Amino acid sequence: MPRLFTRRTFFNTTALAGSAFAVPNLLLKGQNAAGKRLRLAQIGANGKGLSDTSYVTLEHDIVAMVDVDQKRLDEAAKKREKYHVDANQAPPRPPKLYTDFRKMFDEMANDIDGVMIATPDHTHFLAAMWAIKHGKHVCVQKPMCNTIWEVRELHKAAKEAKVITQMGNQGRTMEGQRLAKEWIEQGRIGTLKEIRLHTNRPIWPQGPIDKVQAPTPEGLDWDLWLSSTPMEPYFELPKDKQTKRASSVHPFAWRGWWAWGSGALGDMGCHIMDATFSILGQVIPTKIEVESGPISDLCAPNWTKLKYHMPASEKQPAMIVSWHDGQIDGKPNKPEKHEMIKDDTWAKATSGMQFIGTDGLVFEGDAYCKSPRIYPDEAYTQARMDLGSGKHKKTEARSPTPDNPQLEWAHCIVNGGLPSSNFDYSAALTEFVLLGNLAVRSQQAISWDKDAMKVTNVESANQFVKRPSYRPGWGV
Ligand SMILES: NC(=O)c1ccc[n+]([C@@H]2O[C@H](COP(=O)([O-])OP(=O)(O)OC[C@H]3O[C@@H](n4cnc5c(N)ncnc54)[C@H](O)[C@@H]3O)[C@@H](O)[C@H]2O)c1
Repeated sequence: MPRLFTRRTFFNTTALAGSAFAVPNLLLKGQNAAGKRLRLAQIGANGKGLSDTSYVTLEHDIVAMVDVDQKRLDEAAKKREKYHVDANQAPPRPPKLYTDFRKMFDEMANDIDGVMIATPDHTHFLAAMWAIKHGKHVCVQKPMCNTIWEVRELHKAAKEAKVITQMGNQGRTMEGQRLAKEWIEQGRIGTLKEIRLHTNRPIWPQGPIDKVQAPTPEGLDWDLWLSSTPMEPYFELPKDKQTKRASSVHPFAWRGWWAWGSGALGDMGCHIMDATFSILGQVIPTKIEVESGPISDLCAPNWTKLKYHMPASEKQPAMIVSWHDGQIDGKPNKPEKHEMIKDDTWAKATSGMQFIGTDGLVFEGDAYCKSPRIYPDEAYTQARMDLGSGKHKKTEARSPTPDNPQLEWAHCIVNGGLPSSNFDYSAALTEFVLLGNLAVRSQQAISWDKDAMKVTNVESANQFVKRPSYRPGWGV
């Protein structure tokens, strides 16, 4: 396929708007799509990419897999084959394997309908933008990107290209999140007045960490892993910071570094703040207050306490949403427990959400709002009886594929409709989450003007809205 553009100018060229790549090559709406198998590519094939592939590989064709770590790529390709064998299906045609997603688009863009992305956070923007500019539908893991500027740019590009989008926050497809919203809107806990959120993350090293230079692991293309971030030698964590799962930055432990991850907040916020964002009417906070453990220019802190000031929406009054993460002096950094939650239930809640109303609360002790319950018990019993008898009003649209955002996305490409966490929703959710990191990184309360995309009271905080630089070759 002839290359129509140089990588340097990829995102800047307006000529793309009129090129063959500007519109999806497959929208399928209005066509006879029954039984249509999509041709999908997975960028970031191992780690979360493995399970994302498993959610769609029986119904659709994985035609390409990309991973910058050859060993992990080969392992992912084998496991993908095993999903079929375990389901008593003939092994599928093997996907083409790549270590550089740009090469994949160069060689086989015309053979791909949609792209799933599960790389570390810093590469979501690049990989998704390359896909969108080739007219591909995209399903991007959470957080959509790790800077607000990238989130906004990606959202804009996807809208212009009219592709079907999804973020991988699975809670958004679940029944529990819908029930929690309906219970609150239907007055089961009186008037909602406060929301308290928490998580035990980080369960990987955070706080100021030194880099210990180390040989690049065999098979890993470190230059491609860094992608558009500045070149630097491969490194491990100091011995006293290493854990069984995290000894170097790749895989997994990149989460704690601002350049590649977004800390515990960015990692879990798109899950734990999701129901809140939906219930409060998708409003963006105006101010965020912060307290945290020590940070460095490079790493997120070990613990954080945030207060998001949420404006009123059509359905809910203005209120404070608090966020607690990590551990302080070896003890979980949890918010105040509502008196109605039993101690043993609270002790087990490694993550959680308390939606506190004037007459009770809705509580969920995990990250996704899969199985929320109401306190007091009588209100919960009544709500369940009303659900059983059909008295409960189901006002929220249900997902055709609960718990499976990847398959929901593919379903919408084939059959029409919008995925639950399409970018119109998930871009604003991700912005809501990432705003907390602007406060953390500037170590003071920030006021946010969403129309201007600007922190109005601390000029220095604005340096964190956009990545400071992009290496050439990635099209930005
Ligand atoms: N929705 C969820 O529940 C959930 C759970 C875990 C992770 N995630 C998200 O999934 C993403 C990946 O997380 P993870 O835990 O799997 O990380 P990981 O480091 O374990 O795996 C990432 C994989 O991507 C590969 N990779 C890195 N850069 C790449 C590039 N430029 N091109 C292609 N492949 C590249 C790595 O080699 C690795 O195999 C993150 O954004 C994370 O937040 C979501």
